Amino acid sequence: MGMHIILIGFMGAGKTTVGRTLSGETGIPLFDTDLMIEERAGMRVSQIFESLGEEEFRRLETETVKSLAARREDWVVSTGGGLPLKEENQRLLRQAGTVVYLRVSPETVAERLKGDTSRPLLLGEDAGGRMRALLESRSPVYEAAAHFLVDVDGKSPVEICQEILCKKRLKIQDI
Ligand code: S3P
Repeated sequence: MGMHIILIGFMGAGKTTVGRTLSGETGIPLFDTDLMIEERAGMRVSQIFESLGEEEFRRLETETVKSLAARREDWVVSTGGGLPLKEENQRLLRQAGTVVYLRVSPETVAERLKGDTSRPLLLGEDAGGRMRALLESRSPVYEAAAHFLVDVDGKSPVEICQEILCKKRLKIQDI
């Protein structure tokens, strides 16, 4: 099997940024599930939530995972924060490659997503409180879905990439 790395984790964990860096460092092409869905649907994620609903977005996520899993060549993929919640997606991802959980603290998420309006789940009243509750409830899911995790707080994308590649080479299974 080729080199297949899947980045999972909460909104604001840096999956897209780390994916770009990893792709730049290794020369392996990057796919981003949110972007793939947006291209396919011809609208932004926030519009999909608004006009088609979250369920339809989740269905599109599973289709996207299936299409990626069928690609034999090397790839890195950054996933949407809710994608690993579906067991089917978890199974497909773990079969397809190495699943890496980018673990982030609620403080870092709050700082990074201050003023962000592109995440429909974090809009409206008490967004901070909901973010913390969502992060807490999802953490065990991310841990169960991943082969290993990397803590991202206070680290640069390059440092995170080095840690990912090092752990992958050593085939560390710390979860
Ligand atoms: C979501 C995360 C978003 C996007 C959508 C739903 C989630 O992706 O897929 O807004 O359920 O956590 P990012 O994790 O890239 O922000």
